[in-house]
Amino acid sequence: MTILEAVEKRWSVREFAATPIEAEKLNRIMQAGWLAPTASNQQRNKLFAVTDPDLRRQLVDACEGQEFVGEAPVVLVACADQDRTMICGQSARSMDCAIAMAFMRLQAIEEGLQGCWLGWFHPEQVRKILNIPPEYVVVAVTPIGYPTNEGTRSYKKPMEEIVVYNKMEK
Ligand SMILES: Cc1cc2nc3c(=O)[nH]c(=O)nc-3n(C[C@H](O)[C@H](O)[C@H](O)COP(=O)(O)O)c2cc1C
Repeated sequence: MTILEAVEKRWSVREFAATPIEAEKLNRIMQAGWLAPTASNQQRNKLFAVTDPDLRRQLVDACEGQEFVGEAPVVLVACADQDRTMICGQSARSMDCAIAMAFMRLQAIEEGLQGCWLGWFHPEQVRKILNIPPEYVVVAVTPIGYPTNEGTRSYKKPMEEIVVYNKMEK
């Protein structure tokens, strides 16, 4: 599978089979996150693969009761410490975590898995459940697993509405 094929096959899935994810697949997914770039190569990420059913159940509450979080065999969580605002005005750690999660998500596609990026979660609750120290920002939560049905790509605006070569029209 090419990277673009993985990108094209990625869409949000919220129904998962109970089938566990094989250890070697999960290891490759985590490797993709581990090797992702970080601002100034500071590598402050902690990338979690939450497989424990009790922890996943607790994460459902932390994610506003989104039940599929508990049904997915693995919940990926990305957090990082020593956050700082870069010259561009953005949080370095939020970006580091988002990149790592995106890499993991694409490797999951390569492994035949799907998932759903979650922004509806309460970071303080996630922190408590996973013993994440207060100096860490909790940026991304993504349950992954084998989809119960394949699903389809959601609507995307025409490429020319999103992509700009050189500068925007006035
Ligand atoms: C930053 C972000 C936060 C999201 N939060 C949630 C969420 O909490 N719950 C959910 O069901 N989907 C969530 N989604 C999934 C989006 O609804 C989904 O990506 C979007 O509708 C586009 O569909 P696609 O992923 O199939 O391309 C989130 C996606 C992103 C990128």
